[in-house]
Amino acid sequence: MQDKIKQLKEEALKAIGETQTVAALEEARVKYSGKKSELQEFLKSLGQAAPEDRPKLGAMVNEAKSAIELALGGRKAVLQNSEQTKKIAAEKVDITMPGKGIRRGHLHPLTQVMEEAKGIFIRMGFEIAEGPEVETDYYNFDGLNIPPHHPSRDMWSTLFIKDDVLLRTHTSPVQIRVMEKRKPPLAIIAPGRVYRRDSDATHSPIFHQLEGFLVNKNVTFGDLKGTLTEFLRQIFGKEKNVRFRPSFFPFTEPSAEVDVECVLCKGKGCRLCKETGWLEILGSGMIDPNVFKAVGFDPEKYSGFAFGMGIDRIAMLKYGIDNIRLLYENDVRFLEQF
Ligand code: DAH
Repeated sequence: MQDKIKQLKEEALKAIGETQTVAALEEARVKYSGKKSELQEFLKSLGQAAPEDRPKLGAMVNEAKSAIELALGGRKAVLQNSEQTKKIAAEKVDITMPGKGIRRGHLHPLTQVMEEAKGIFIRMGFEIAEGPEVETDYYNFDGLNIPPHHPSRDMWSTLFIKDDVLLRTHTSPVQIRVMEKRKPPLAIIAPGRVYRRDSDATHSPIFHQLEGFLVNKNVTFGDLKGTLTEFLRQIFGKEKNVRFRPSFFPFTEPSAEVDVECVLCKGKGCRLCKETGWLEILGSGMIDPNVFKAVGFDPEKYSGFAFGMGIDRIAMLKYGIDNIRLLYENDVRFLEQF
């Protein structure tokens, strides 16, 4: 019996010492010191031993039990400690590792060109006005001296919403809206989105215009030429030649289209300028007396000039972009280049 107790104790201590995880240790505890352990069974069967041996055997069992419990406690501390160490090592953050860089964005090329164009006029003393993109027939056409059924309406492929409601085909209606509310002197620019039923490499159904107009006493065509020449040189380069060509718009008389020397061939003639050496940039003219009458200004007292340009077109020419869709696809590989 004594040998048996000794052997059980040794076996338990050895097994406890060899456990590698807290879970394995728990198994060993159940096996060697739990209620159903061999040692416990042994204690129960002590009654069958000779009376004079019982105290000694009892003491031995108790001693074995406490030795096992002590070993369990000690091993538990060791294992918990090493599991903790492993966990900490696994979760360790290396603060010397380089961080992930934050990439900085920038404005869309169209926004950049729009801001640049606005800035040039603002420095000349123009102020900004805006109007609705969903516009009435009156402001988009009639007020601008474009009567219903008049052939001049064919200049715009209009997207109608209802008979007399449409998506504005140009920013010119803002002229009427501002002049209805305010009195000269006025120097206004109106940037914004416009819509037409048009779609190919150089036309998008949505695009951007910058409108401008100036009304005062004694405004001349010379003022128009000076203002627009200065604008075009600031935006395309001060060495660029500019020319004014007679043209027609219902809301101006006389009207002129303004060209800038080709940005690619510098006037020699190439594919971009259709061998002319010139690029058409904007429409302009002296505000038609009928427009002044529509807003209640006296055409005998006031005169003014107006102009309108496509911002998408200017961006494409400035940056050599050959397809307008690139401006609307928002492919980061394209946008990154600006
Ligand atoms: N609104 C014209 C267009 O979209 C552009 C334009 C031409 C505006 C002459 C003007 C102007 O103010 O005077 O085609």
